Amino acid sequence: MIHLFEQPKKNGAPIFLFLHGTGGTEEDLIGLTELLHPGAGYLSVRGEVSENGMPRFFKRLAEGVFDQEDLALRTDKLISFIKEKAEEYQFSVQELIPVGYSNGANIAANMLFEEALFAEAILLHPMVPRRGVKLPDLSSVRVFIGAGANDPICPASETHDLEQLFKEAGAEVTVEWSHHGHQLVMPTIQKAAAWLSRN
Ligand code: MLT
Repeated sequence: MIHLFEQPKKNGAPIFLFLHGTGGTEEDLIGLTELLHPGAGYLSVRGEVSENGMPRFFKRLAEGVFDQEDLALRTDKLISFIKEKAEEYQFSVQELIPVGYSNGANIAANMLFEEALFAEAILLHPMVPRRGVKLPDLSSVRVFIGAGANDPICPASETHDLEQLFKEAGAEVTVEWSHHGHQLVMPTIQKAAAWLSRN
């Protein structure tokens, strides 16, 4: 998969797993590194699905309607890719903190629906990737959800449902709302950085 990797500049600093939104690339979110945790590293991946030329991490049938078969396949592929890169670049998968926006947040959430791969995750404008499935034990996982109160793509009900599902699986969940729509705004990033530093 097309990706960028940067080792942390400081000992003990995390490595962010950046997963962009629809139409994005691996370049989009790397500028958040220093805002979220100075000295952190990153593995930033480009989604392999093309929707009219726009990269995504999995196919959708319509806006907000996901191709579940493709989602399952791509999630497993992304997990294998991450494990491969962990070996190649010599880090442990547990050191990774996914930072996903929109479509990238959805596949990050779905990875956690599969297994408690990460100790922390930052999901920016996520939706519920799958419904009616049993989640693994996520009691070792902290999740930050950044949501927009007026987000037309990820309605508030999706945020509430996702929060509930993660909590039922034992995760510690923090939800921060902005009064904006689907766009990523600086106050959300600042809240995510503060949440990270509280660990
Ligand atoms: C999706 O995965 O389709 C998102 O939630 C919406 C988008 O990326 O446009």
